[in-house]
Amino acid sequence: RKTVTIPALQAMRAAGEKIAMLTCYDASFATLMDHCGVDVLLIGDSLGNVCQGQSSTLPVTIADMAYHTACVARGNKTALVAADLPFATYATKETAFDNAARLMQAGAHMVKLEGGVWLADTVQFLTERSIPVCAHIGLTPQSVHVLGGNKVQGKTAAGAEKLKADALALQAAGASLIVLEAIPSLLGKEVTDLLTIPTIGIGAGPDCSGQVLVMHDMLDVFPGKKARFVRNFMQGQTSIDAAFRAYVGAVRDKSFPAPEHCF
Ligand code: KIV
Ligand code: NA
Repeated sequence: RKTVTIPALQAMRAAGEKIAMLTCYDASFATLMDHCGVDVLLIGDSLGNVCQGQSSTLPVTIADMAYHTACVARGNKTALVAADLPFATYATKETAFDNAARLMQAGAHMVKLEGGVWLADTVQFLTERSIPVCAHIGLTPQSVHVLGGNKVQGKTAAGAEKLKADALALQAAGASLIVLEAIPSLLGKEVTDLLTIPTIGIGAGPDCSGQVLVMHDMLDVFPGKKARFVRNFMQGQTSIDAAFRAYVGAVRDKSFPAPEHCF
């Protein structure tokens, strides 16, 4: 297939074609996901949980992220590679730039960071300096100790308004993608309709421009408790290759997420 670029994702949104994204942490899985048609490979800081056995993403360092990003980039040919800026690496726009540059030099095509309006200046600073940004709002796991747990966000009228304001500010600042995590489906639709850039949902309903899951969750290899939005794509399949293709197919034909995966 042709190389997946940010304009290509924008064109998919415009055409109503759903974007399939998965987390990926190493070269072998990157090659497989790329062959199976996954559009975006995300080196998520969820690697703290699923690779390192940490109980949150907070211990993950920029060196960890650069290492896994380089591994994924070596295995990938055509997918877009996005990498998370981990906890405490983007408190100021200057430190955000230095850390994002490390991920770009390791092979990322874009960086992701968690937060709303307060990050708008940072998003603008990065995009002006040739670093595309994916924002992540709703349930933001790096804020677990502020949120008091991994809870569904945007359930109150005020929370929903704040989320919409965050999304608009991030888009205006130059973000080219927004991940919406663990919010009511209706709000996922409202935010998606409000924006011109693609939204990628994880527990944000079927109306986002695309979907993302953690690889270890959708292959059912992560031993912990699973979130409502996870579907086991190994079920009914006899290979990991088939599970990745089933995921891409279910995102494209809109059979995932189903109501039981939504809030
Ligand atoms: O780190 C991660 O895996 C993520 C996705 C769940 C969006 O940020
Ligand atoms: Na993350």
